[in-house]
Amino acid sequence: MTRPGRPRAVLVGPMGAGKTTVAGLLGRAWGVDVRDTDEDIEAAEGRPIAEIFVDSGEAYFREREVEAVADALDSHDGVLALGGGAVLDPATREALVGHRVVFLRVGLSDAVKRVGLGSARPLLLGNVRSRIKALLDERTPIYESVAVVTVDTDGRSAEEVADEVRVTL
Ligand code: S3P
Repeated sequence: MTRPGRPRAVLVGPMGAGKTTVAGLLGRAWGVDVRDTDEDIEAAEGRPIAEIFVDSGEAYFREREVEAVADALDSHDGVLALGGGAVLDPATREALVGHRVVFLRVGLSDAVKRVGLGSARPLLLGNVRSRIKALLDERTPIYESVAVVTVDTDGRSAEEVADEVRVTL
């Protein structure tokens, strides 16, 4: 039996950093599978994340997220993209130590542009720009603390970002 390895790269960063798109490009370039913890949670729950937030609450979602990340770190040897808030959990940060964690950094303007003003993401209801600003302010130091590499995504295509991840990691 082959033991599952470690993810080849774990992408962290805020909504709008392009984690899902860059993960897809890296997966194709390296010829490995891509996993996304948001998708794992939706598949396990059989409902979209927005619905989980509304019907069961954010705390419930975060519990499922901790489990999904632990499972993926343990069993997936391709590229792994984490939801933007996954690193808020201390046990998750601990579990990331020793992994090839890449922080896809994004500034406020590009994040707002990419997420779109009409975002369906539950944490952005209300004023998208001010919500994103608050999330970036609060979380940037956390992303930096878990990452071994930071890649700037402002003004760059997902292809350019994926190329930099490949040459730097
Ligand atoms: C969240 C980010 C989302 C998703 C959920 C909460 C966050 O993932 O997990 O809406 O707390 O930043 P993406 O970063 O993939 O959009």
